Amino acid sequence: MRLILRVWRQKNADAEGAMSTYEVDGISSDMSFLEMLDTLNEELILRGEDPVAFDHDCREGICGACSLVINGDAHGPNGVSPARADSRAWGSTTTCQLHMRSFQDGDTIDIEPWRASAFPVIKDLVVDRSAFDRIIQAGGYITAPTGSAPDAHATPVPKPDADHAFEHAECIGCGACVAACPNGAAMLFTSAKVNHLNVLPQGAPERESRVLDMVAQMDEEGFGGCTLTGECATACPKGIPLFSITRMNREFVRAVGKGR
Ligand code: FES
Repeated sequence: MRLILRVWRQKNADAEGAMSTYEVDGISSDMSFLEMLDTLNEELILRGEDPVAFDHDCREGICGACSLVINGDAHGPNGVSPARADSRAWGSTTTCQLHMRSFQDGDTIDIEPWRASAFPVIKDLVVDRSAFDRIIQAGGYITAPTGSAPDAHATPVPKPDADHAFEHAECIGCGACVAACPNGAAMLFTSAKVNHLNVLPQGAPERESRVLDMVAQMDEEGFGGCTLTGECATACPKGIPLFSITRMNREFVRAVGKGR
């Protein structure tokens, strides 16, 4: 498979970036998207050029490090959530789980970093997502001692609440929701983290402070306001549902009503 790649290149956070065009040949349809970029980088290194910087860690769809806008879609053409599949092909994949069989020989592929003012570009395709870490630090934890695994298992949790917590715990913090949102909002991420803990008995002591502090930190980081366009849920590779945001809004109003 021969491909034309148009890749965002930017030397550092202060430099101006631009799209650069490369041609890669001999790409197998069984390669992952990141393996295809590895092939490009090997060629660039052999030519004495600077390889393209991109983020990755597990390459198994679990860490959330890989973060590319591919042909205008966060995580590429298979990154669309089944909840919003519409007419597009879907697979709910992260970039590292996207395979080249999703492309055709001769395709031109645009590859860009996440685009959001709260995620400044560090280099090429790598962005700074530490804003998410600070939102978690503001309240994405519990203080109740849970003991060892068997002790935690002994705490009764109603099945619907456990399912709800697990559904939101699937968020891997990749940031696709922010990249896809026309406002650059982080409501889907923040709501997933709030709802995951707020529904569990272990998270109850911080139920009010958690939602207030995490939303305040989210605002402080410069994320945009949510207008419920739903693009976040469409782009989420883990299928975090849009109602997560409305549920967090209810938690927020409840916390304000209780005066914290
Ligand atoms: S590299 Fe870990 S989710 Fe893609």
